Amino acid sequence: MQDLDELTVTDVALAQMAGTENPRLKQIADGAVRHLHAFAREVNLTPEEWLTGIQFMTAVGQACTPLRQEFILLSDVLGLSAVVNALHDKKARELGSQSSLLGPFFREGAPDLPNGAQIVEHPTAEEIVVYGQVSDNDGTPLPGAVIQVWQTSERGLYDLQERHGESMDMRGIFRTDADGRYHFRTVRPLGYSIPMDGPVGELVKLQNRHGMRPSHIHCLISADGHRELVTALYFGDDPNIDSDTVFGVSRSLVVEATIDPASPVPGLRAVHYDFRLAAEAPGESGRVGADPTRLMKAAE
Ligand code: BEZ
Ligand code: FE
Repeated sequence: MQDLDELTVTDVALAQMAGTENPRLKQIADGAVRHLHAFAREVNLTPEEWLTGIQFMTAVGQACTPLRQEFILLSDVLGLSAVVNALHDKKARELGSQSSLLGPFFREGAPDLPNGAQIVEHPTAEEIVVYGQVSDNDGTPLPGAVIQVWQTSERGLYDLQERHGESMDMRGIFRTDADGRYHFRTVRPLGYSIPMDGPVGELVKLQNRHGMRPSHIHCLISADGHRELVTALYFGDDPNIDSDTVFGVSRSLVVEATIDPASPVPGLRAVHYDFRLAAEAPGESGRVGADPTRLMKAAE
């Protein structure tokens, strides 16, 4: 029998898991064990701290509801979602538009709208237009590409927060026209705080972070034979553009709303953004995030 100490237990644990048949599960579980053990040794984790961690994770699980995914939020504020996203994005980025986080406010089943429609039911701020073209990585326009968009209101809240999930607003699904062009009206979304009333918010406060995301519009774009693009457009003049709590902003995704003679809706400030989709990578989903309702259903 082997004497176990804080070092030898790692290899013993890995040996006991050596029979895992699924090679990818083996790689992931082995890596997690090695890094978790190394982490405990590095910080000299005490039993009290270990228990605090368990209580924290329990509270994170208990904060999950059909409308809220606190584990995804935890992954987001730790930068893990951004790492997974960037790993997934590495190849597509050379060819297509850069991606960003899906976030916890994506919902399946948003309304299908014609190009030019306003996505906000009762706009109370200046309307703007968002327009552009979707093409493949050779620059060939993609007619019939599907663009889903969702955003906060001018008050900085998603419909899930303002309407408690009872109806949808500030969302829409558009299709590009014969030239691959799209446009929709909206109001400029306000930057907002991630949900701070749960255990993840407590952690963020203990870290003296502001918890804000800069103003943005989420976009999920798909076209047959192309890789789905999950991204967002960020307004460059937002005061938190360089300190996003969930590390979602990249330079190539920063936009401004300007008076633009080429806009399809003269008289409104316009955001112009052309998307490029990389060629399809079979069997892959680029969604770092999910509709929380769906995750709850899958867990039942
Ligand atoms: C969002 O952009 O909707 C979001 C992303 C991560 C955490 C919270 C919100
Ligand atoms: Fe968002």
